[in-house]
Amino acid sequence: MKQKIQKLLDELSGLSIQTHEELENFRLRFMSKKGLISSLFSEFKSVPAEEKKDVGAAMNVLKNRVAELYESVKRSLEQSEGDTSGEDLTRTAYPIPMGTRHPLSLVREEICRIFNRLGFSIALGPEIEDDWHVFESLNFADDHPARDMQDTFFVSTSPELLLRTHTSSVQTRVMTSQKPPIRIICPGRVYRNEAISARAHCFFHQVEALYIDENVTFADLRQTLLFFAQEMFDANTRIRLRPSYFPFTEPSAEMDISCNICGGEGCSFCKHTGWVEILGCGMVDPNVLENCGIDSKKYSGFALGMGVERITNLKYRVSDLRLFSENDKRFLKQFESAK
Ligand code: DAH
Repeated sequence: MKQKIQKLLDELSGLSIQTHEELENFRLRFMSKKGLISSLFSEFKSVPAEEKKDVGAAMNVLKNRVAELYESVKRSLEQSEGDTSGEDLTRTAYPIPMGTRHPLSLVREEICRIFNRLGFSIALGPEIEDDWHVFESLNFADDHPARDMQDTFFVSTSPELLLRTHTSSVQTRVMTSQKPPIRIICPGRVYRNEAISARAHCFFHQVEALYIDENVTFADLRQTLLFFAQEMFDANTRIRLRPSYFPFTEPSAEMDISCNICGGEGCSFCKHTGWVEILGCGMVDPNVLENCGIDSKKYSGFALGMGVERITNLKYRVSDLRLFSENDKRFLKQFESAK
């Protein structure tokens, strides 16, 4: 009997079990009611009393080895199958929660759609740019403060590459590669070296518009702005243009809309003025047209640029810029029903 047990122990150490089927056969052969171990225990009764101690010990070793082998093979088979034990593979899948559009994407698309209806088509440009497209072509004097290291993120010095600080660089890209008439809208991300706070961020989003043709006037600009403001906010929105300065437009203006919270009556949001600023605009400076190879005697144009975060703040009251890039699902979920 001892020899029989030893033979089975030898067999166990050379055994290789690869599949669930082989494991089940092993269990039936060794561990079931009619298996080898229980038949050994039946035989044990007839073992002479003086051998019982030795044979009993050997049987226990065998029994433990069998149990250990069974458990360890079972565990490793389950692990290699991604542990689906106990899972009902036929159950219906849990519903995957619907994601939501980011508020900045919603607003950017709405701005573009309004301008699309006026015949503006989308133009895109690179975020990593050179000095000429971001500054020089747009009439920035060499010592203009916006070129300062404090505002601009430089990427390399030779060639001089930087992260664009505004989408106006896309104007230049289009003007140097297309002939008028040009009617484009350029959405995109821009970068400035600012300390991050509720009101400033090192990246944000702008939408730029440019219209160049023969006889484009300030009246066209004004009418386009009024249409945009009334489509974006509501039909009663009024606009106001204040003289301003940008290197690439002459004359330049900033546009306010009547406060869409108090309707122009005055509230804390509009600092009791009834107006809120939303964008910069102007007639394209003839120097800019010439820099880009467009005859400024024949053509004129207007341009405008706005911050998508600013418009989103007005539409949805998101006043802390940091919320836009934190990816907090509780914030994003609030825009579930927005189109
Ligand atoms: N580029 C300006 C900025 O980043 C915004 C702007 C103002 C764009 C006037 C224009 C414009 O096209 O005409 O602040």
